[in-house]
Amino acid sequence: MPRGLLVTGAAEVATFAGGLRRGASQGEPAIARTGTAVACLGGRIVAVAREAEARDALVAALVAIGAAPDAWDVVDATGGTVTPGLVDPHTHLLFAGTREGEVVLRQQGAGYLEILAAGGGILATVAATRAASDGQLLAHGRRWLGEMLRHGATTVEAKSGYGLDTVTELRLLAVAGQLAAEGPVDVIPTYLGAHAVPAEVRAVHPDAAAAAEAHVRAVIDEQLPAVAAQGIARSADVFCEAGVFSPDQARRILQAARALGLGVRLHADELAPSGAAELAAELGVLSADHLGCPSPAGIAALAAAAMGARPVVAVLLPTVPWFLGLELREPARELIRSGIPVAIGTDFNPGTSPVASLPLAMSVAMLRLGLTPAEVLAATTVNAAAALGLADRGSLEPGLRADLVVWDVPTHAQLPYWAGAELARAVVVGGNEVFARGRSGGNASAS
Ligand code: NIG
Ligand code: FE
Repeated sequence: MPRGLLVTGAAEVATFAGGLRRGASQGEPAIARTGTAVACLGGRIVAVAREAEARDALVAALVAIGAAPDAWDVVDATGGTVTPGLVDPHTHLLFAGTREGEVVLRQQGAGYLEILAAGGGILATVAATRAASDGQLLAHGRRWLGEMLRHGATTVEAKSGYGLDTVTELRLLAVAGQLAAEGPVDVIPTYLGAHAVPAEVRAVHPDAAAAAEAHVRAVIDEQLPAVAAQGIARSADVFCEAGVFSPDQARRILQAARALGLGVRLHADELAPSGAAELAAELGVLSADHLGCPSPAGIAALAAAAMGARPVVAVLLPTVPWFLGLELREPARELIRSGIPVAIGTDFNPGTSPVASLPLAMSVAMLRLGLTPAEVLAATTVNAAAALGLADRGSLEPGLRADLVVWDVPTHAQLPYWAGAELARAVVVGGNEVFARGRSGGNASAS
């Protein structure tokens, strides 16, 4: 019999109720009136209401399922802020090895894509990842999911893309599935076979364009059907970037993915405009990610798509240019002004963002992109859930998943302000308190 949970005493409950945020509503946290408590039962939110009312609703719900009316626990949020559990809509969670040496190479003048073209970068991580065992990848996943959970993330998207060959891509997605099954963090797997052209394909096609085309064919003819047959990814992604995969190649891959029943998203115009934002709007993908350098036409196309029923969510990853030491800033304000819903992720990966903390990404977004605290929180809750196509989470409303965080600050406005601090006092996933400062378990255990 499930036990209930009542979260009481918060100085502020920022519910983010009311659905996707765009334009002026990007900055609306939907703060509940003072004295609000959150009642949870059976993995869902039962009530967000004045404490006495929430307690009565919880008792009634317990009685309705035949449970004892006192079968509930309290999470003490006194003086803190309660928000929905954070959703990280873009990570490359699973990899082996590290690349701290590239930071020094860049300090000496090497460019990110230059290092990749020379066989380093993503390809160095691919070699290490192929050599890693499933057990090593699982241990790595648990360690970093634990870090993410301690910073308030309850749902984390995880891309493959460091296998590139069919066997390793499937292995990475299976590991993501195992981590999701372990919990408590919910892991949403994305297939990213078109992340780079693997070295063995380059070796037999000295012409770079021919090599890329050969890999695109392998992705469409072999990898995607295998991924879809095993049902181990919810969506497919492509690194659509000048010098990596073209919009035409991304279109073919994503259309094939869609025909197989997968959701689609893409890495769009991360470092230079290549027409990827335009493609994202054309295809109506779930999310267009990075958008460091979208063209004016690309922004206009996304703005037009945002007027429709299924807007493309712009997933910004502001720790990437920050970590790469680039002046580049994602045009966040322009996107919001254009009515495009904005989400924020960590892009956790060993090359461009070894950052597991969503609150740190929120701080960087606030400071470098000029977003308000409420805007960055909408971007990591309700809009991030929408970017993943998840309608059952992202805000605190009856009927939704009982995923929430109690933060040790009296207002949401202080979350991105204490940059780098561990502010989560308690994290609740599916109505269970899975983290209280000093304790954790499951896929979020330290290793
Ligand atoms: O999102 N852009 C492509 N992929 C990652 C970086 C991967 C890597 O450098 O290992 C990104 O920035
Ligand atoms: Fe990425």
